Amino acid sequence: MVREWDPRTASSAEIASLLDTLNAVLAVDLPQDPPWRESSLREYLSEVMPGERRISWVAQAELAAGGAPGPILGQVNVLLLGDIGVLEVLVHPSRRRSGLGRDLVLVAARRAYQEGFQSIGVEVVGDTPAVAFYESLGFSKEYVETRSVLDLSAVDWAELSEMATGIGAGYHLEFCPGGPPDDLIDAYARAKAEVRDVDDGELRPSSYDPQRLRDSLDCLHRRGMKPYIVLALHEQTGEVAGLTEVVVPAQHPTRADQYDTIVVQDHRGYGIDRAIKARMLLELRSAEPRLTEVQTWNAQANEAMLKVNAELGYRADREWCEYSVDVAELVHRLDAGR
Ligand SMILES: CC(C)(COP(=O)(O)OP(=O)(O)OC[C@H]1O[C@@H](n2cnc3c(N)ncnc32)[C@H](O)[C@@H]1OP(=O)(O)O)[C@@H](O)C(=O)NCCC(=O)NCCS
Repeated sequence: MVREWDPRTASSAEIASLLDTLNAVLAVDLPQDPPWRESSLREYLSEVMPGERRISWVAQAELAAGGAPGPILGQVNVLLLGDIGVLEVLVHPSRRRSGLGRDLVLVAARRAYQEGFQSIGVEVVGDTPAVAFYESLGFSKEYVETRSVLDLSAVDWAELSEMATGIGAGYHLEFCPGGPPDDLIDAYARAKAEVRDVDDGELRPSSYDPQRLRDSLDCLHRRGMKPYIVLALHEQTGEVAGLTEVVVPAQHPTRADQYDTIVVQDHRGYGIDRAIKARMLLELRSAEPRLTEVQTWNAQANEAMLKVNAELGYRADREWCEYSVDVAELVHRLDAGR
């Protein structure tokens, strides 16, 4: 049975059941990834940025005795933002290859179609069944990144301390747990806006204006994801010359996610990228003692960032791809196959 599902009002048993399915999926598809925890999972699934909507459906087994709802064996959600729809689909490993994934995509695609969306995208993890699944549904690959993981137990902390101080004169670094301080929000948004068009191969779905930045930080906090920022400030102008962002999610607090790292064009060549990333790791060591790993995603063409990451000890893990499809064609294809 596939039905629309609202995580805000779902029972705790349903949230726990979805977590079991998610962890069963991780265990077979990404066995090196830490299992997720229930902390703030409801908020993670419910909270969105202003103007966005996330609509979810679950596939739930009906128990024979009295027809009471059974465990959640699959889930789909579509995040509607601007004119883009982003899909996420999960099917419990014990229920795969019986058409459930296809049914879940169909229900979400129909809604996106009714709402006037033309295309939907999805993140597909390389070397998992999702690749063949989305390709069989007519999705095509738009973009490939590499995920890399840093094992903090293998880090040479003395070397890292040197990297953190190896920065040109006229700059100083500031560590900002929780997000940039209010008096630096404007300068922070300017730094992000300036590199928006830099062609280093990275996709930048970032927040470029101060209000959008505040909304995005609020949304992260509501979802149980704690942002940490290290800024490189240009002393002469007070401008943000560089920034790096790491988020520690309550759902998997041993593995943090690296978000943007930016060095503004005029301030390149002074060792800022290496220094801010090294300083971040040093700060996280005391701020987040549970942390054992950090993961990051980079365009394969972004050689400068890949080089810094390799120096810090990141090891390439696997491909992470973006696929997309025309919604009308998808609905037509799926309806025709029923
Ligand atoms: C991708 C996923 C949703 C597919 O679910 P599913 O219920 O097994 O998919 P379906 O049974 O509807 O498969 C539809 C078609 O996709 C293709 N397909 C699906 N899995 C496949 C596989 N392992 N190998 C080859 N083709 C596959 C087939 O063409 C299949 O049709 P067929 O069975 O008639 O040949 C499921 O594997 C899953 O949940 N993966 C994890 C996704 C994810 O988000 N992971 C994030 C953390 S890793």
